[in-house]
Amino acid sequence: MKNILGSNLTVTLFGESHGEAIGAVIDGISPGISVDTDNIDKMLTLRRPSGKISTARQEKDEYSIVSGVFEGKTTGTPICIIIPNKAQQSKDYTKTRGIARPGHADYTAYCKYHGYEDYRGGGHFSGRITAALVAAGAILVSALEKKGIRIVTHIDSLGGICDRKFENYDNDITELLDKAFPVLSDEASEKMNEAILEAKEKLDSIGGTLETVITGLPAGLGEPWFETVESKLAYAMMSVGGVKGIEFGRGFGFAEMLGSDANDGFRYEGESVVTTTNNNGGINGGITNGMPVTFRLAVKPTPSIYQKQETVDFINKENADIEIEGRHDPCILHRAKVVVDALTALVVADMLIGRYGTDYFTPKD
Ligand SMILES: Cc1cc2nc3c(=O)[nH]c(=O)nc-3n(C[C@H](O)[C@H](O)[C@H](O)COP(=O)(O)O)c2cc1C
Repeated sequence: MKNILGSNLTVTLFGESHGEAIGAVIDGISPGISVDTDNIDKMLTLRRPSGKISTARQEKDEYSIVSGVFEGKTTGTPICIIIPNKAQQSKDYTKTRGIARPGHADYTAYCKYHGYEDYRGGGHFSGRITAALVAAGAILVSALEKKGIRIVTHIDSLGGICDRKFENYDNDITELLDKAFPVLSDEASEKMNEAILEAKEKLDSIGGTLETVITGLPAGLGEPWFETVESKLAYAMMSVGGVKGIEFGRGFGFAEMLGSDANDGFRYEGESVVTTTNNNGGINGGITNGMPVTFRLAVKPTPSIYQKQETVDFINKENADIEIEGRHDPCILHRAKVVVDALTALVVADMLIGRYGTDYFTPKD
């Protein structure tokens, strides 16, 4: 029953959607990192639902850091972040106890925890838990920026509508960092919003893909075989509820290419080795080659939809229909963006600390 991610830098998640609080514990962090509360607030705001395209559940996400930070800097001992839940409406769930929401974890949680699970609002399986992940990861996002490493995710496609591809990483990253709806093309953004509202009107939900880029990583990061950069990122990303696929660089597209197109040629640019294309997404043999690391995630449509659906009542052991109440996102892509950024930062920081030591982020002067 593990809720821990990482080897050198670890993050543990705790809490339930309708319990007293959710939170995260970060261990193995370098001492001396300035804790940028503005960035934590900004990333929590980007994850928070807003407008007609998101759930109506409004949580302020007022967090407290109860350990591991002294005078604004990390001490190097475990950091515990607590975010109280304030806007629960548990009656929506007590009525339907035992009626499994199709596509959600109600039935599988019951099988695993033998009925002792806190089922309200999806309990520990709720998207709500990602707020804690975002608060934890935000500390590392700022620390990585100071090391020249930038991470950003955009909605690559939604319901078949595609955003434009990255053109200039630095400009595009800066443009995306503060966007509540993280799409580069205004035209695509408008169409995607319309598609979400259309799905919502039909009491349905909609999915798509997210694309992430990490720039500024040194070459030589990652281990062969089981701790490759791909395995580490895939392990983390596939833990996020609703994420159903991952590909690095051209990913599944490689299946239709010839070697002569797929290979990224090498060149010296001054003293740096670069590649002429980046089909392999900055990774060769599981190790970074110094080019931007790129990956895409497939995110499924939100499972909780308001249409009548076929299911079972696993308490009374009979077939049933379900008409879901409660507050849900018709699409989770725009909210998942900062979750992916935060998680990427935690994975990258873990790998950097593994290679360069616990003091990697500690200021040298
Ligand atoms: C940021 C975020 C918000 C989410 N919001 C909802 C939601 O409002 N309703 C819902 O049914 N699922 C939501 N999900 C998805 C569920 O958490 C997820 O589908 C569920 O845990 C089952 O996991 P699986 O889809 O990976 O099988 C959200 C996920 C994320 C990352």
